[in-house]
Amino acid sequence: MLQSFSQLLEKVNAHIDTLDYAHEPMHLYEPVKYILSLGGKRIRPAMMLMAYNMYRDNVEAILDPALALEIYHNFTLLHDDLMDNADMRRGNPTVHKRWDANTAILSGDVMISLADVYMSRVDDAYFREVMATFHRTSIEIAEGQQYDMDFETRDDVTEAEYIEMIRLKTSVLLACALKIGAVLGGASKEDAELLYRLGESIGLAFQLRDDYLDVYGDPKVFGKKIGGDILCNKKTYLYINALRLANKEQRAVLDYWANAVDYNPEEKIAAVTDVYNKVGLPEMSRQAEDRYYRRAQEALEALSVAEEKKQVLREFMAALMERNV
Ligand code: IPE
Ligand code: IPE
Ligand code: MG
Ligand code: MG
Ligand code: MG
Repeated sequence: MLQSFSQLLEKVNAHIDTLDYAHEPMHLYEPVKYILSLGGKRIRPAMMLMAYNMYRDNVEAILDPALALEIYHNFTLLHDDLMDNADMRRGNPTVHKRWDANTAILSGDVMISLADVYMSRVDDAYFREVMATFHRTSIEIAEGQQYDMDFETRDDVTEAEYIEMIRLKTSVLLACALKIGAVLGGASKEDAELLYRLGESIGLAFQLRDDYLDVYGDPKVFGKKIGGDILCNKKTYLYINALRLANKEQRAVLDYWANAVDYNPEEKIAAVTDVYNKVGLPEMSRQAEDRYYRRAQEALEALSVAEEKKQVLREFMAALMERNV
């Protein structure tokens, strides 16, 4: 039977609650418990279960590899927040703020291995393919994160480079979630590949929205501080296109703030956002999201499963496109 998104989410959350953190040294595991207990949308494990559920019913059988993806994702957040100098995550202080940088590094590190432990709990028949997909994904995420950092000090990043960077840092994990779910569900190679591509496309729309919400979101809902990307000189879709579309005066504003030292953060955020608004970026960014959403829909249509089996994933994708969190 096809399970609804909320039924799958409930299973994922119940499984996360079974994690045992009562190990010494507490200072290593407490931040792991902290980050995993702050909630989050849990879309990666849910996506793995959704893909699996198109082919098989017993989603309980893959809760361990699904949990692995959530642990892995949360590891990336610990290190990402340190790299991005971010204070808030899911409406709470980030691990390196609540504890310190070393804690975020080492608790993050142990989560990589914990993820491996849980991911390896799959039937022998699938072990090699699952682990190869997962490890390739984790290497690509590191590549994406490095590009993201490298781009901070460049002002000539193209849109194609940006898209490839977010494909690596964000999309491949969503793609990996769907593909592993499909593989474990016994899907055909073609379907597993289509689901991978669906994940890549919806992941691009997802990161475009993340970048949009970093400027235009409601901090109480979004759970992160607004304007963090602007303060880091991140080369987002918004920033790249602002540079491209800016008139001379607007270009001077962007250049001034990119090179400013010792400034009032709120002033920088307001000035850069003002340029975004003037060149029409909010709307343009939403249109870009839509293009990738349509690609994901095409991949969904091409899957060789009965129409009714696609319903949960279809509704999930539509909901992602409306998200504010
Ligand atoms: C945040 O991911 C990191 C990105 C890839 C943008 P999510 O937006 O899925 O974060 P949570 O897990 O729901 O908090
Ligand atoms: C997310 O990029 C990429 C990873 C965490 C791998 P962001 O840096 O935009 O994510 P948030 O906005 O901090 O969640
Ligand atoms: Mg970040
Ligand atoms: Mg980042
Ligand atoms: Mg972001």
